[in-house]
Amino acid sequence: MTIERTAVTDAIERKRSGHVNTRQELEGLVQAYLDGVVSDAEFTRWLHAVMEHGLTTDETAFLTQAMAASGAQLHWHDTPGVVVDKHSTGGVGDAVSLIAVPLAAACGVKVAKLSGRALGHTGGTLDKLEHIPGLSTDLTMAGFKTQVAEVGCAIAQATAELAPADKKIYHLRHRTGTIDSVGLITASVLSKKIAGGAPHIVIDVKCGHCAFMRDEARALALAHSIADVGRRLGRFVTVLVTDMEEPLARSIGNALELHDALDVLAGRDRSSRLRGVALAVAEAMLSVHVGDEREGAADRMQRLEAALADGTALRRFAAMVSAHGGDLKAVATVGSPAATVEASTSGFVAWIDGRVLGEAVVKGEAKRPGEIIGIRLRKRIGDHVNPGEPLADIYGDAMLAELVRGAVTIQPTAPKLRPAVLHRIHARPDQHEQVPQAHKPDR
Ligand code: URA
Repeated sequence: MTIERTAVTDAIERKRSGHVNTRQELEGLVQAYLDGVVSDAEFTRWLHAVMEHGLTTDETAFLTQAMAASGAQLHWHDTPGVVVDKHSTGGVGDAVSLIAVPLAAACGVKVAKLSGRALGHTGGTLDKLEHIPGLSTDLTMAGFKTQVAEVGCAIAQATAELAPADKKIYHLRHRTGTIDSVGLITASVLSKKIAGGAPHIVIDVKCGHCAFMRDEARALALAHSIADVGRRLGRFVTVLVTDMEEPLARSIGNALELHDALDVLAGRDRSSRLRGVALAVAEAMLSVHVGDEREGAADRMQRLEAALADGTALRRFAAMVSAHGGDLKAVATVGSPAATVEASTSGFVAWIDGRVLGEAVVKGEAKRPGEIIGIRLRKRIGDHVNPGEPLADIYGDAMLAELVRGAVTIQPTAPKLRPAVLHRIHARPDQHEQVPQAHKPDR
């Protein structure tokens, strides 16, 4: 595409004065920024204008499409079966993918999951998986496709070739305080998923203190925006809004969360909130199954429960790990904690500042990669405690104990609890919209 610099700078100014950008303007803007035809400072002016005036659904769809088409794109029409991708907007203790991906695959869909790393106060799925000795998520696109076809599921790094515009824009948004825009987050999340090519997409929008979206109304607005834009770009989309007021897994820390996920897959944990959300996400992944139209949510749940109970899901996880080069038997055991934090008073746990704890753990892990560092919460919001009862076990860094003491609030009355799944939105593709074409050839 030949880009007229003046057309792009005019498009920036038009947005600054509150006008709606056209498809052509947005395609030009994305390509010009990627090619260095407009500078960081110029693109930041546009980002700030978006923060002020917002993006219409049309603009968001055009932006998403332009970002998805900025690099290589995968396709799956030569893969037998129903191919699904899954994404979470991220939060503390979010080990859902480790469970939901093999579980949904064990129940019949093909899962092609593209994943990211730790961001801010949240750990990344890849970082959790890489605590399995030998495991690599650095797959070629061809290797990714083969693994999905043969094993039924794969979790691969989103490589630099997929949606490179998102990577460049995302870094700039981080530096310029322009993350918090529903339109920009929609385009960022969906451009990667559209480039990944799966026709069915499940998005888990995390909502609450431990997530990026703290406010339920904003999380719901984001969920609707993702569903609308995904549908317009030819995808079947299910968006769940799930609670993240406190850390989802019982642990915070990549290695510990891997063990939490294994506990669910192996049937040792049959009641946690993590298990509940993973089942809800896996159910959404199966709901796209175009096979038996008469199957309802309760039937799908029954199939998922059975796959956990009879070990099918765990075996699928082991097969996926081994295809990634990992050795599940060599995973280090957790061992004894460095410290245990006890309650100093009796009452109900009313609040856990998981954000502060998440940030501290992510920093500790970055300094000492590969080690078991983190916090295993022994009590959750709503639990009753007596003085001297353990609140949390600390691993790898005894200094985290002090933070836990300050992060847990105990009060005399029981707090009100939110359900784990707050909203579900399903969207089917618009027939008249085209799946975007790649500027560059598929690999
Ligand atoms: N996750 C993303 O991938 N992009 C955003 O903009 C926010 C969260």
